[in-house]
Amino acid sequence: MNPFFKRLSAVIRFAIPVAVCLCLVLVTIIPGLNASPVKVTLLMQALEAAQWEPFVQEFNEKHPDIELEIIEGPNATNQVEDLYTSSFLLGNSPYDLVFMDIVWVPKFAAAGWLRSLSDRVSSAELADFLEGDINGGRYQGELYRMPVRSDGGMLYYRTDLLDQGGYKPPNTFTELLDISQTLQKQNLVEWGYLWQGKQYEGLPAMFVEVLAGYGAFWVDPATLEVGLDSPEAIEAVKFLRSTLEKQVSPPGITTYAEEEARRLFQNGDAVFMRNWPYAFGLLSADDSPVQGKFAIKPMVHAPNYPSGACLGGWGLGITTSSKHPDAAWEVAKFFSSEDIQRRFILATGYVPSRRALFNDLEILAKYPHYSQLLEVVENAALRPPIAQYAQASDILQRYLSAAITDQMTPEEAMNKAANETRRLLGAGS
Ligand code: GLC
Repeated sequence: MNPFFKRLSAVIRFAIPVAVCLCLVLVTIIPGLNASPVKVTLLMQALEAAQWEPFVQEFNEKHPDIELEIIEGPNATNQVEDLYTSSFLLGNSPYDLVFMDIVWVPKFAAAGWLRSLSDRVSSAELADFLEGDINGGRYQGELYRMPVRSDGGMLYYRTDLLDQGGYKPPNTFTELLDISQTLQKQNLVEWGYLWQGKQYEGLPAMFVEVLAGYGAFWVDPATLEVGLDSPEAIEAVKFLRSTLEKQVSPPGITTYAEEEARRLFQNGDAVFMRNWPYAFGLLSADDSPVQGKFAIKPMVHAPNYPSGACLGGWGLGITTSSKHPDAAWEVAKFFSSEDIQRRFILATGYVPSRRALFNDLEILAKYPHYSQLLEVVENAALRPPIAQYAQASDILQRYLSAAITDQMTPEEAMNKAANETRRLLGAGS
């Protein structure tokens, strides 16, 4: 063969397999290299984000096709809510999921910011969760939030101090005040009762418990009737005022959120405290001065009325704007699963949203109070599940704060709060 053609055929013999290989590489390997995991993002209060960190890593290891990123936000629920809200209003939300306080659900769902989860989960699966947590995740019949952890307000008390005074734990508001004052007079303790008096979402959360204990209510979600100016509701405000007037609570209480109250109680400076169950784990730590010296019980109440425990809690919803709702659903399933909840609770002392975990042997071995907690969260008092909740809460926060800081009488504050709430709900209906 002509040497030129010989060389040409050698080149062709070499080039064809090379070209075939190249094509194969292009078709198979390169797209594989480019298939980076789908990124899903959510915003969470910094304190809790740090506690979820190991579970986020575990999720990402188990789901190589998804990369979950948690952005740390402020710790106060309203501030996190504001950040989510402005991102949705501006229309450029980077969030696929909302880590959602139970009270945000109606507002976020009504605004169209959340996808319904109803078709993704069966009623048999939902039956494993606390009813209040599931109901709190619904809006107009659709489910918008998978519960991750529950919450309920309760009374913490110092067992050693009550023993010294020969007291049983109080059941009524009056007993709580009397025991506090006696122990304070005996110089056994500086303060009687710690609660959340700062002007923020923790204030109405605490107040619905006092309202329930006086047989009063805030807003009836079925009729939108407002009960803030009833004589019983005014009594509830007077009780809070009396804790200051009698110096059972420190004057700074009107600026306290959960953590300020918890630190003072943990330091051994008070007999009673209203707080969420998260405090139990911290108060029981080895370096806690009150370790082994406190217990919990349902909130005090007026004679003939039941205890109220505000139902709180957090869960995951999927945003309407998310481009990866299926990946986001994997995250919601993982974080609400029994295994992850069990391990998260063992690590932190938060409250499960799955009923079975309250009687889980491993959890009870570490936190014997969980069987009592089930009763507390099952008899919870609700903040009204209405779409205008954020504004209603803001009105109550302002006037209640004015009443407890002595800028208005309880009557004047509650009359104004009730009328403004009526105008809000009337305008919204
Ligand atoms: C807790 C509760 C939440 C509530 C908040 C008020 O985080 O779980 O429902 O709104 O406290 O501070």
